[in-house]
Amino acid sequence: MAQHDVKVDSMAKVVTALGVVLLLIVVGYMAKSLMNTIERGSTKGQVMTAPAAPATPVAEVPAAAAPAAAPAAAAAASDAAAGQAKYATCAACHGANGEGSGVFPKLAGLSASDVEGKLKKYRAGEQVGPMTSMMAPNAANLSDADIANLAAHSASVGGAAATPAAPAAAAAGDVAAGKAKYATCAACHGANGEGQGMFPKVAGQSAADLAAKLKKYRAGETVGPNSAMMAPNAAALSDGDIADLSAYLASL
Ligand code: HEC
Ligand code: HEC
Repeated sequence: MAQHDVKVDSMAKVVTALGVVLLLIVVGYMAKSLMNTIERGSTKGQVMTAPAAPATPVAEVPAAAAPAAAPAAAAAASDAAAGQAKYATCAACHGANGEGSGVFPKLAGLSASDVEGKLKKYRAGEQVGPMTSMMAPNAANLSDADIANLAAHSASVGGAAATPAAPAAAAAGDVAAGKAKYATCAACHGANGEGQGMFPKVAGQSAADLAAKLKKYRAGETVGPNSAMMAPNAAALSDGDIADLSAYLASL
């Protein structure tokens, strides 16, 4: 019997001890959640009164400044917004929303994989349609990421207006980089900037003069009678792009 009593006694002690531990846990948990509630309550006001993204005073930026100079955007795998910015150079031929016109095919509504496949063919110099030679230079300079972004954009057209996001700019003009970037311009201005028809000669002008004009186009200002045709080609250029392109064209 004594043995049994001892057993019951120790069992009771264990149960009591467990009860105390449990109680401490529950009290601790309650105290913690109370603290959390208080903390959340005190920060709630700050979060709610935090101002919305500040409006960029684009209209007040003087012409010489860079309205399109945006901070370097994280390069995502396939980013329709980045594609939209990149699309600025394509809009002159394919229309602001990829609607196409005349000989320039409609891009809106094509699947991303279709656009991607065709752009890679153009880039590789392969024949796609009867006017491939006109399109190929526009794809020659595109990276895989550019193509993925453009494809994502084409598949999503009809959205809001483009907000040109310029990549981090290189400081001074780089002739070789400018030559590579000129690929998209050659279709209109000629392989060596010699101009043709309504497309002015851009070779041989001073770099400063070229850069000033490109910044005007980028800002949406009128330069000549056909500025509306040129402006989309400058909309997405960063200061670095402009410096590179101007250095290249001045070297011709
Ligand atoms: C100078 C005018 C011009 C510019 C600028 C231009 N394209 Fe094109 N694009 C064309 C022409 C012309 C074709 C038809 C080519 C053919 O017959 O293969 C074409 C075809 C295409 C096609 C294939 C459409 C289809 O269904 O066959 C895609 C996709 C395309 N362009 C995307 C772009 C993108 C993206 C850009 C900008 C990086 C761009 N283009 C810039 C003239 C242009
Ligand atoms: C779809 C055809 C087209 C494409 C592509 C194009 N341009 Fe133009 N560009 C024009 C036209 C048209 C004008 C004349 C605009 C005007 O009247 O102001 C022009 C004017 C210019 C001028 C001013 C020339 C002067 O002395 O008045 C420069 C510089 C220039 N373009 C550079 C470029 C560069 C650099 C690119 C590529 C990033 C490019 N263009 C792509 C059509 C084009």
